[in-house]
Amino acid sequence: MRKKVIAGNWKMNNDLNESISLIKSIKENLVDRDNVKVIIAPPFTSLDRASQLISDANISLSAQNMCYEDSGAFTGAISASMLKSVGCEYVILGHSERRTLFGENNGDVNKKMKKAISSELTPIFCIGETLEERESGEMKNVIEKQVREGLDGISEAELSGAILAYEPVWAIGTGKVATPDQAQEVHAFIRNLLKELYSENLANNTVIQYGGSVKPENAAELIGQPDIDGALVGGACLKAESFVGIIKNA
Ligand code: PGA
Repeated sequence: MRKKVIAGNWKMNNDLNESISLIKSIKENLVDRDNVKVIIAPPFTSLDRASQLISDANISLSAQNMCYEDSGAFTGAISASMLKSVGCEYVILGHSERRTLFGENNGDVNKKMKKAISSELTPIFCIGETLEERESGEMKNVIEKQVREGLDGISEAELSGAILAYEPVWAIGTGKVATPDQAQEVHAFIRNLLKELYSENLANNTVIQYGGSVKPENAAELIGQPDIDGALVGGACLKAESFVGIIKNA
């Protein structure tokens, strides 16, 4: 049985002091649930302290992005080994904000995926269509291209354990959540694609999260769908109460 994974993507929110208080408050309210894994992804500047603060809790640490190079003249970039040195186990790759605001393409995401995997960081690989792509009937083509190109050259053994996150761009930060049926349809499509590209075994074992305006009120119904294995949460993870509410309802 696949685990449910609830990950909080803090985006560019919370300085060090704010990060410390949010983590303390998540820890105070957190309830351990057997089949639910909890991950937080604070900004780079808070990772080191976050790692110390969560060391006695059932919370794992993720970064929000990473460079595909090992080291050198890449001003402003952060490497996989730097993330590992501050306690990250996960890294979010290909988030739609990185794609649309910072020009990342499928090829960049593919290089990052390979670097994360070879560095033993678990990628949370994000894919999703824009509203225009959905309305023009291109949704499945776009998602298939993101999956094929993002995973190009990655073997089944390398991909096993990685997390996928389906995040329709039109649902991110907009309050417009995909209906459980809409989300389930795409999750099943992605899982089937994994079966075609890899195997039934990999497809059945891969966690596919939903992301886009997830809140405590809609979490249970979304995560209750057969192919939805948790949530990648933006806005609602910035308050301990709503983040923990989602975990409780997962
Ligand atoms: P949201 O963001 O929950 O604020 O819609 C989700 C995400 O970007 O991962």
